[in-house]
Amino acid sequence: MAAYTTETITPKYHEALVAWQKKNFPEMKFLEDNWSKYYASQTPFQLMAKIGKLNSEVINYGRMAGQPRFENAGEMVGNMFYSARDIIRAQASTELGSIQQHRLTLEEAPTDQMKMAVLRIMSEELRHGYQMFWVLDHDQSWKKPGHPDIAHETMEELLTMELGDHVLDAFNIPFTNFLDNVIFATVIDLVGKYQLEMQKVFSYAPMARSMGPMLSEEGFHIGSGRGFLKELAIGATTDSGRYSINDIQKGLNAWIPRGLEMFGNERGGATAVAFGFKDRDNGTAQSEYHGEVREVIELVNVEIVRTKIKDITAPDARSIVREVQDTGETVRGVAPQDLLFVPDVKFFRKRGLEDIALMPYDVYGNLMTEDGKPVSAEKYLAYLSTVIPDYYLKTHEFEKYREALLGHQAPKPGSYGW
Ligand SMILES: [Fe+2]
Ligand SMILES: [Fe+2]
Repeated sequence: MAAYTTETITPKYHEALVAWQKKNFPEMKFLEDNWSKYYASQTPFQLMAKIGKLNSEVINYGRMAGQPRFENAGEMVGNMFYSARDIIRAQASTELGSIQQHRLTLEEAPTDQMKMAVLRIMSEELRHGYQMFWVLDHDQSWKKPGHPDIAHETMEELLTMELGDHVLDAFNIPFTNFLDNVIFATVIDLVGKYQLEMQKVFSYAPMARSMGPMLSEEGFHIGSGRGFLKELAIGATTDSGRYSINDIQKGLNAWIPRGLEMFGNERGGATAVAFGFKDRDNGTAQSEYHGEVREVIELVNVEIVRTKIKDITAPDARSIVREVQDTGETVRGVAPQDLLFVPDVKFFRKRGLEDIALMPYDVYGNLMTEDGKPVSAEKYLAYLSTVIPDYYLKTHEFEKYREALLGHQAPKPGSYGW
């Protein structure tokens, strides 16, 4: 028995999303034509909403715990109604934004398998966008007497968003090379997994029912990212790849801070839990995420060591990784710069706790000081230019960071995560 049922949305929005796809993602046809060659055992892609099952009929968390979940958006009152809309809007924006990002460098994929995987990821993100449209479209109660038609307004806005307009910073950064596709699938899709996991408890039932099928697709995105990251790291180690370990490290240094910021302010998230939208606050989820990213990178390092030292077991390789990274010394020919690491949570943060955001922390989490005071913005910018990719320094997102750091224009306070 299937774990979900399927639905389509009203023709107006179905057609609007198909038109969006033709404009933003015409390569989808190639995936459809070649699906059976690469994914023979799996059901071909279809643009539709998948309605999964609830893990319980009642609300699990927050002030309404124990009560039945809301079937209609209109039953949610005041702030709750609008903050549910904000989460759905942010979710949909990430799905559509990532397609626009992946497409920029799709043709640079080093192998056909990598290209097909990115095409599949993009298609599934389109389905996730479609799923969020379903949440807004199938429930007439998003339109309340005396209120504007929130669902209609939100979907129209989403359809016009370009890179630069998306809700979360991470989805406004253009990709420059295929390393971005791979790192993004590894560390940014992983934030998506945390959000979807947390939202399984969503007190508004249609949102909760959407999470299971989206999560299983997300598994492919994250798995592809991890597999390809290993391949690229091995390529770097054997000098046969397009990217060096330093290139990969710089990519991680640019993307991981953006992933951390997607959780919202470390101290926030209590309201989402009180409304029964999520099961964890931002800080808890963010630190679990950081821990998982470290594990993922450690597994890549294990493969690097196994490439450098023939016939070594994985546990022995892991011990070497830890020894090299703990001592900073070369062990059996493996030097610290041969391995990848996860920058500290405080590094290169534009948003977050006051003592972290826009403060000059290095990749290891040390505050950079001069005469007992944090170094100047100019000095920190000079440092950043040595640890993040050159092309990233030219993006509009980095320009905004630079402006904020120089004190010309602070980022908007308040909510910025999802
Ligand atoms: Fe997604
Ligand atoms: Fe994804």
